[in-house]
Amino acid sequence: MNYNFDRFSKKSASSKKLTMVTCYDTWSAKILDNTNVDAVLVGDSLAMVMHGFPNTLHATVEMMALHTAAVARGITKKIIVADMPFMSTRGSLDQTIIAAQKLMTAGAHAIKIEGADGHEKLIEHLVKSGIPVMGHLGLTPQSVFTLGGFKVQGRTDKQVEALMKDAKTLEDAGCFSLVLECVPNAVGRDVTNRLSISTIGIGAGPETSGQVLVLQDLLGLNGEFKPKFLRKFAPGESIINEAINNFCSQVSTSDFPTAQESYE
Ligand code: KIV
Repeated sequence: MNYNFDRFSKKSASSKKLTMVTCYDTWSAKILDNTNVDAVLVGDSLAMVMHGFPNTLHATVEMMALHTAAVARGITKKIIVADMPFMSTRGSLDQTIIAAQKLMTAGAHAIKIEGADGHEKLIEHLVKSGIPVMGHLGLTPQSVFTLGGFKVQGRTDKQVEALMKDAKTLEDAGCFSLVLECVPNAVGRDVTNRLSISTIGIGAGPETSGQVLVLQDLLGLNGEFKPKFLRKFAPGESIINEAINNFCSQVSTSDFPTAQESYE
């Protein structure tokens, strides 16, 4: 495994768009490991997708470390980025370092931190300590209540100005890449053009250096979830339904198991 992050530099990203997909467990990690995706993200969205919470505020460092370790057991060829969960970067520097250490020793190759304000020194410290850091701006779900809901950000000149400033702050602090979530296309493009690090968009239009999606969303496993930015690349829910119902009906008709599927 080549652990250098060169492919996330703007130079290499400009020739090939980057792709990142969320991953929370070993069996999907094994599948993703043999795809063309550049990186997997153990996102704190796992609190919602895997644990059924209404938002990401319920993810804890222990939860993130457990899922990161499960992912690391299935990944041999991809970069693993793990989210620093809600409030884990807002206590003392010591507490943050312990949390980051837990994720890195669980198997992450990099961590992702939401927001810039108040994180400048911390990110510099983590980068100097040998931890690659990915930033996250725009709709930062850990601030859902401050933002007034899961809403598109960067709609006003003031918001755009703040976002541009934050993006530069994160680059200067040493982030190797930046997730931009739910901002208008023009903002995704302008932030991308302004930075020398790569931007990975989700609902940020086509002009970022790459795209990230939640695995279950892109596979169409979350029927009710239909935000404007999402393309479902497979009818996952109906494929699984059909397979399970086929199993049930073939058991009920005694078509499964056959002699070939049974031991002598
Ligand atoms: O937690 C997550 O899944 C994320 C992506 C939406 C970027 O942060």
